[in-house]
Amino acid sequence: MKTWLPRLLVSALMASTAMASAAVAAPPTGAWVFDETPDMPGFTRIIVSEQNGQYSGTVTSHWYGDLPLKDIYIDGDKLSFHLFNGNMRVPEYPITLTKDGDRIRMKGQVWDAIFDLPAHSGSDSEVKALDFPTFPLPAPRTVKAMVPGATPPMGWSSWNKFATDIDDKTVRQIADSLVSSGLRDAGYVYVNIDDGWQGQRDQDGVLQPNAKFPDMKALADYVHSRGLKLGIYTSPGPKSCAGYEGSYGHVEQDAKTYADWGIDYLKYDLCSGEAFYHTPETVRAVYQQMGEAIVAAGRPIMYSLCEYGRFDVGSWGRDVGGSLWRTTGDIEDKYATMATIGFDKNGVPNHTGPGGWNDPDMLEVGNGGMSFDEYKTHMSLWSLMAAPLMLGNDVRTMTPETLSLLTNREVLAIDQDKAGAQGLPAKKDGTTEIWTKKLADGSTAVGVFNRGEADANVAVTWSELGLKPAKIRDVWNHADLKADKGYALVVPKHGVVLLKVVPAKS
Ligand code: GAL
Repeated sequence: MKTWLPRLLVSALMASTAMASAAVAAPPTGAWVFDETPDMPGFTRIIVSEQNGQYSGTVTSHWYGDLPLKDIYIDGDKLSFHLFNGNMRVPEYPITLTKDGDRIRMKGQVWDAIFDLPAHSGSDSEVKALDFPTFPLPAPRTVKAMVPGATPPMGWSSWNKFATDIDDKTVRQIADSLVSSGLRDAGYVYVNIDDGWQGQRDQDGVLQPNAKFPDMKALADYVHSRGLKLGIYTSPGPKSCAGYEGSYGHVEQDAKTYADWGIDYLKYDLCSGEAFYHTPETVRAVYQQMGEAIVAAGRPIMYSLCEYGRFDVGSWGRDVGGSLWRTTGDIEDKYATMATIGFDKNGVPNHTGPGGWNDPDMLEVGNGGMSFDEYKTHMSLWSLMAAPLMLGNDVRTMTPETLSLLTNREVLAIDQDKAGAQGLPAKKDGTTEIWTKKLADGSTAVGVFNRGEADANVAVTWSELGLKPAKIRDVWNHADLKADKGYALVVPKHGVVLLKVVPAKS
């Protein structure tokens, strides 16, 4: 039997079926509030809209603010996208959004956070309350450094050895050991607390240290009483790299707090701010903002820029009040990383010099991951580059061998040379490199490096390097060498021979 339906009814039914299937197949739109989130990046909401079949939207998080949904791809009711958090080294993993009853789920990965998160449809007020605040950045201006630094700064920093496992007591003990070991008198005067000291803001927005640092002012007084200076760390973004409170929206207030505590050095680490400060203009502007805030706070605080060498920082670091600027990503206590940073990546010569220093990152000497020769290479290379020398080891328990590597006066004199020239490779031959650095007294420091996996014979011919030696000093061994036309030097695997060549009077 044939069923008969009026024509109009059939087409109406067909249309509604099509609509129903279209509705089922469409990905979620609207404003959704996350019911849970990993701390990093601390997702709060996602807003998706559709116009003429084109989807767009943003995901908001505590770390990164509003990130636009990138590379949106629709497959049935699934919306896939990428997020760019400002860090080129981190892959953009696929993230998907699907309906789940009257909720949605967002599944994927950002950096090392893997998630599968439910979100509910947010009311207008709920969504509005999650607006991420934005703050204006200053117009370009030149800032005069409070402490330019005639020679590269020297000191100690908590990060390489202790990471966030650092507290008041350890910092005091480190200060004591810097004094008793002679490191302070060798020039290592800054005691820098890196990430992990921050607590919460009080009702007036003033940042408090966490429970591990009961009284920062008292700690500064103690460090000063030992003839040392105290450094601290913060970030322009909402979160520091280890997830602590950053200076976002509190830049001037934080600089003032540090000045009140008696802080002498500030490392400003881009961290989560890289998500929304990722153009040359905005990155320069945020660093200028803190530079100006330090000046306004009125205390001589040395300003260390840490934005991993982005946007040719050496060419503008001084102009925002910086006295040193990182030129690379993080060092590790491994020969391969140290060598890549030191030999291959550190900045260009025309930026470093009195008042502003390329910073290839803190020292790993004494942390145990490299051989004696490798640490000798680390110290020699950093000294030839006129790099800041920030100890990264536990100076309370170091061996005499480590201490000798850190306090060789002739090596330190090359680092601290008044001319402030950055040494550069003069000759590369397979896995050997000869670096030279002109010193203020007219002599030349020469580093003969062996990056190979076996001891090497390296021929050094002075004329080839444009040198006419009258006197040659083996710097590590405090020995004078015969001023021959050249040498065949035996350089150990991953090792170095560091020389000072005094020219013949012409
Ligand atoms: C990194 C920085 C390190 C250290 C760390 C702290 O971004 O390069 O030197 O400060 O953050 O979380």
